[in-house]
Amino acid sequence: MISKKTIAEIFDKMAVEDIVGDFVHLKKRGVNLLGLCPFHNEKTPSFTVSPSKNIYKCFGCGKGGNGIDFLMEHEAMSYPEALRYVARIYNIEIEEDYNKEEDIIEFQHREALQIINKFAAEFFSNELNNTDKGKSIGLSYLKDRGFIEKTIKSFELGFAPSHPRDKLTTKAKEAGHKEERLKELGLSNQYGNDFFFDRIIFPIHSLSGKPIAFAGRILKKNVKAPKYLNSPESEIYHKRKVLYGMHLAKKEIRAKDLCFLVEGYTDVMMLHQNNIENVVATSGTSLTTEQIRLIKRYSKNACLIFDGDQAGIKASLRGIDLLLEEGMDVQVLPLPEEHDPDSFIQSVGHNRFTEYFEERAQDFLFYKAELSRQTAKNDPVNASQAIQDLVTSISKIEDTIKRHLYIKETAKLMSVPEELLLEELNNKLDKQFNKKRSERLKEVRKTSQEKRETSKDKSKDAASTLLEKDILRILIQHGEKSVDEDQNVASFVIENISDVIELIENENFKKVLNIFIEHYNESKVPTFAFLTQQTAPEIRKTVIDIHEGKYDSQYSKNWIDMWDMGLQTQPMPDENQKKDALEALMRFKLNKATKLCRENLELIKQYEQEEDAEELMKHLQIQKKLTEIRNVFAKEFKTIVLK
Ligand code: GTP
Ligand code: MN
Repeated sequence: MISKKTIAEIFDKMAVEDIVGDFVHLKKRGVNLLGLCPFHNEKTPSFTVSPSKNIYKCFGCGKGGNGIDFLMEHEAMSYPEALRYVARIYNIEIEEDYNKEEDIIEFQHREALQIINKFAAEFFSNELNNTDKGKSIGLSYLKDRGFIEKTIKSFELGFAPSHPRDKLTTKAKEAGHKEERLKELGLSNQYGNDFFFDRIIFPIHSLSGKPIAFAGRILKKNVKAPKYLNSPESEIYHKRKVLYGMHLAKKEIRAKDLCFLVEGYTDVMMLHQNNIENVVATSGTSLTTEQIRLIKRYSKNACLIFDGDQAGIKASLRGIDLLLEEGMDVQVLPLPEEHDPDSFIQSVGHNRFTEYFEERAQDFLFYKAELSRQTAKNDPVNASQAIQDLVTSISKIEDTIKRHLYIKETAKLMSVPEELLLEELNNKLDKQFNKKRSERLKEVRKTSQEKRETSKDKSKDAASTLLEKDILRILIQHGEKSVDEDQNVASFVIENISDVIELIENENFKKVLNIFIEHYNESKVPTFAFLTQQTAPEIRKTVIDIHEGKYDSQYSKNWIDMWDMGLQTQPMPDENQKKDALEALMRFKLNKATKLCRENLELIKQYEQEEDAEELMKHLQIQKKLTEIRNVFAKEFKTIVLK
């Protein structure tokens, strides 16, 4: 754990423009800096960095935060990783602070697992390079396949011996490692023997190059055992998040702004050996979103190298829609019939491979279109399905302009009228939208069901969120200003909201509000800097979002529609703190009361139908009370607004 003191120092020294400036080209615009948002596609810059507030905010996509948030979002760093990164920039010495026992235990556990894997990797490597069996069986196999010493070393390959069957397990135990942990890592089996034996070992590395798991390839041909065995998932190995070879490829992926994707461990190695280093493997499974995001940290361009056979093509088509959905630009490079990347580069060498790539790499969608065209020609029955598939892929692209370009091009390619494809596309988009909406509706229904059961409102009502937000806005923007000689806005709001505080629905708003209440109890007001330096990212985000939200026309328009009141003629709230706060509070209370009335009415209807006289009476009385309250609020509200 990084100590509180160090974290405070980091936040103190960090300038958001330093951090962001390394990743986004920023130009000065008034007091702020402006650039193209790295989180969404845009042509005109709406990504703003404010050195004075020490935050960034995109007015296009809404992403915002401090320097740490930026690193977490853009570089997919964890919170401590981001802190360490910033500390390095400013030469801040990190003071560790192990005060939470759980943290120590977890940290020690992971550390122990890593140490064991390192031990195992060294063991396997030694077996391969320095034992008779390893050399005669393992090394010679690898050399026969064309791997040179340097490649074998840089991928840290090894060999798992078969005699004795517990060689690694025993050695590890002798070195003081616990058998329990060896089992947890999948290095030892339940009988205390080695899990890997008589196999070539391919360590699987973390981004920083630590061995976190192993794959073992069988040497014998034509045996029933699986060709590859893999370590199980463990606390340090989550296969969804790992791409084979990334630790050696990441620099080159960034430099070339392109990531080659292949399937096999040996494909990665052989391409490396031929100086193609921007390559990683999925290890024979479909790509996951996590893996795609990992690639995206280094480049938005991916090129899938297909094995020449039909199965290779089919396998690679899977997961591509996912790449598109994540906003990647995807190319494919189909290899000649009999080849996989390993054999192909061995047969043609680096230069010819590069030429082949230049000549043959195709935009994925055009490639798919070409496949569809062939299908359509040979098999008119399946043609429509092929077109559907194609349009589905196109519909995954978020960029509207790109989408239309693809429609235009594919229409030409397949000699299908553009309108037809567009219509199909719109159908798909509608469907996707409807699906999302119906999921959301289902969610709302479920919550309103729960609500009836618990008679507690959990539904997310846009209007009430707006109101809650407005109260927080006042606290955040004006908390320290005074309403009277002896009272500031924050205490005024908190004292006036205490009776309805439980009615705040948004969990994040509640958290922020609680910070204000804690400070209020100490007669203080939290500063903006304090709020944006909270450890919980959702708090930081909420605060920044609210702070940056302007008192815009949309907001007041909403209220004019709802209450039919001429807010336009009122002065902007900034000019009158007390009135602003009171208005927000009353709106909030009025909204809650109205909502409670409406809900109670629902219940009344229900009991009426069910002819439950007792409940009906009870709720009619409640309704009377609620209506009274609501009317009082409404009257108060009117007087405030029209004053
Ligand atoms: P070689 O046959 O040695 O060239 O290995 P390869 O890496 O080229 O293997 P292949 O192209 O047959 O398979 C691609 C990838 O799929 C491999 O690198 C493995 O990650 C995975 N794979 C293949 N066979 C198996 C298997 O039997 N079990 C598991 N778990 N994975 C496999
Ligand atoms: Mn192969």
